[in-house]
Amino acid sequence: MAEKSSEISGMYRKSVDERRKAVEEFSSLSAADLAPLLAQGGKEMEVVGKMIENVIGYYPLPLGVATNFRVNGKDYLVPMALEEPSVVAAASHAAKLARAGGGFHATVSSPTMIGQVQLLHVPDPYGAVQRILGEETPLLALANAKDPMLNKVGGGARKLEARVISTPRGPMVIVHLLVDVRDAMGANATNTMVEALAPHLARISGGRSHLRILSNLAIHRVARAWGTFPKGALAFDEWKGEEVVEGMLDAWAFAAGDPFRCATHNKGIMNGISAVAIATGNDFRALESGAHSYAAWKAASGGVIAPLTVYEKNASGDLVGSIEVPMAVGTVGGATAVHPIAKLAVKILGISGASELAGVMAAVGLAQNFAAMRALATEGIQKGHMALHARNVAITAGATPEEAELVAQRLVEEKMVRADRAAEVLKELRAGRAK
Ligand code: MEV
Repeated sequence: MAEKSSEISGMYRKSVDERRKAVEEFSSLSAADLAPLLAQGGKEMEVVGKMIENVIGYYPLPLGVATNFRVNGKDYLVPMALEEPSVVAAASHAAKLARAGGGFHATVSSPTMIGQVQLLHVPDPYGAVQRILGEETPLLALANAKDPMLNKVGGGARKLEARVISTPRGPMVIVHLLVDVRDAMGANATNTMVEALAPHLARISGGRSHLRILSNLAIHRVARAWGTFPKGALAFDEWKGEEVVEGMLDAWAFAAGDPFRCATHNKGIMNGISAVAIATGNDFRALESGAHSYAAWKAASGGVIAPLTVYEKNASGDLVGSIEVPMAVGTVGGATAVHPIAKLAVKILGISGASELAGVMAAVGLAQNFAAMRALATEGIQKGHMALHARNVAITAGATPEEAELVAQRLVEEKMVRADRAAEVLKELRAGRAK
């Protein structure tokens, strides 16, 4: 048999049907395998077909809505798209507890992104830095000439920075262009500007310009949120409010003292932030990269591990949680402008622009982290998680949606949320019905 080849020339020129055919042949798919794709078409396919290349279909993720969010005195329903059970429920519950303390508060810095230009083979790197900074005004004007639209809406290139770095390939001059991108995520505006500046920077420095690209470590575009969780509202089951507060402070300190825990702590924060990013058509990879590199950057500059949230106890013994995280999100341009569900998500949120969205997302990140920490510091994460996960396990074992509820209930009662047990319970259920 001839070896199959993934070298399919002109895949992007093929129609969706032709691409599906090519994939069907390459991966030896049956009609049943292909059925979920073949059911897709119409207007949705037209939209997604133009968003990326070589489209053969679209990938549905559940879209949920977190309730109870109050940020800066305004109520929000927060759309979240993700595959993980219990995240939406956890965020909603945390937001409810925060409401007892007046809801979340949020502030957002100016929407300033960093564009980088790498300069190589500069004979006098430190002198070049000075010469570049000396020409800041004309260089900013050159950058701004590239985007009159952005200037019109109040944004534009604002500042130039330059420094020398040492690398395995010798010293390099790195220039940062700071661009106020207003309501856009800003990658296109920033990249266009740094590409325009690069030849001028090369000339001034006497070196050669190399990479010209946005940095996702968006330290100038940061969202902050905080909230007070009254100790009285934190009591549940056998847990007293004070115990929950102390337990959560110890849980936070673990993240602040240990990189292995810190990674998971920050992952929980991104469960919320990325889910809102996906729902609103934002670049969640940029946010993930920004958040984790911000934590690393803070750790490196402060000499301590850096969870993105901080927990403290106020004078009344209530828990005060806060978050600081880069938040490069947009409400104009990108997928947010073309994807019908993203457009809808922005409407559900009822936000006026990118800054308001950034503030809400910071609050969601804090809520998500609070919920995980509260569970971890008390009954453990598995109890709540498994109750919701049990339905997935039941479906995987072949249960219909109606059967899944019953099977899941049994698995949780028995504290045995496992595929083999789900199959047994399903068998018993069906046998009982057949009688
Ligand atoms: C799971 O998706 C997220 C958690 O692991 C976060 C945490 O441990 O803080 C529960």
